[in-house]
Amino acid sequence: MQSTYFKRFRMEVDLAATRLPPALPPGYRFVPWNEALVDIHGRTKFRSFRDEIDAAVFPCLGDLEGCRRLMREIRGKPGFLPNATWLIAHGANPESLQWCGTIQGIAERGGTGMIQNIGIVPGHRGLGLGTCLIERALAGFRVHGLLRVSLEVTADNRRAVQLYQRLGFRRTRTVYKVVDGGVTEQAIEAAGFGTPALL
Ligand SMILES: CC(C)(COP(=O)(O)OP(=O)(O)OC[C@H]1O[C@@H](n2cnc3c(N)ncnc32)[C@H](O)[C@@H]1OP(=O)(O)O)[C@@H](O)C(=O)NCCC(=O)NCCS
Repeated sequence: MQSTYFKRFRMEVDLAATRLPPALPPGYRFVPWNEALVDIHGRTKFRSFRDEIDAAVFPCLGDLEGCRRLMREIRGKPGFLPNATWLIAHGANPESLQWCGTIQGIAERGGTGMIQNIGIVPGHRGLGLGTCLIERALAGFRVHGLLRVSLEVTADNRRAVQLYQRLGFRRTRTVYKVVDGGVTEQAIEAAGFGTPALL
């Protein structure tokens, strides 16, 4: 069976300095965590990730049921942090309501915060929503006294890597995620992701 190795960066930001979170663009609003929103997070995750490189790295991200299950798992983790878990919505009434982005955070043992997944639905990207969602989550980690937050990002996901660097995240480690079978280099290239990093 053929295996594909995806190069990923662990990145970390120090929250000791005061940060000034940017305002959301007009019409958008943050929606804080509540238990009734677990499925909305799952669906928003799916719509954000289904056509992206991370759906090849983590096949569950390319599958609606997989995203729902993943969201329930994140919710069930002992370090789950409601204050670092947010949605962005657009539209004031139920008819025009759109769910545009999701982020989730957990506290790891040892006092580091960890961003699980951040996704902005296509059509709402490039407006600063990703920046706002990360800053909102970072403020939530701070509420819990966590002054170091990390995440993992696929090296070929340049837009995300650049965004994290702009927000002060620095690379601390390189790891490789192996995906057995199912994903072929041709499929990844056809999806426009370029050649995956091979060990
Ligand atoms: C990575 C991601 C969260 C960024 O969200 P976003 O709302 O577009 O982020 P922002 O608008 O705050 O910033 C994106 C950057 O791309 C630039 N950009 C320009 N045009 C863009 C476009 N059409 N779409 C997205 N970004 C664009 C922005 O100007 C900004 O650049 P800057 O950092 O130099 O200012 C989003 O692309 C996404 O959900 N991707 C798929 C899921 C994913 O890979 N998540 C990350 C997993 S680690």
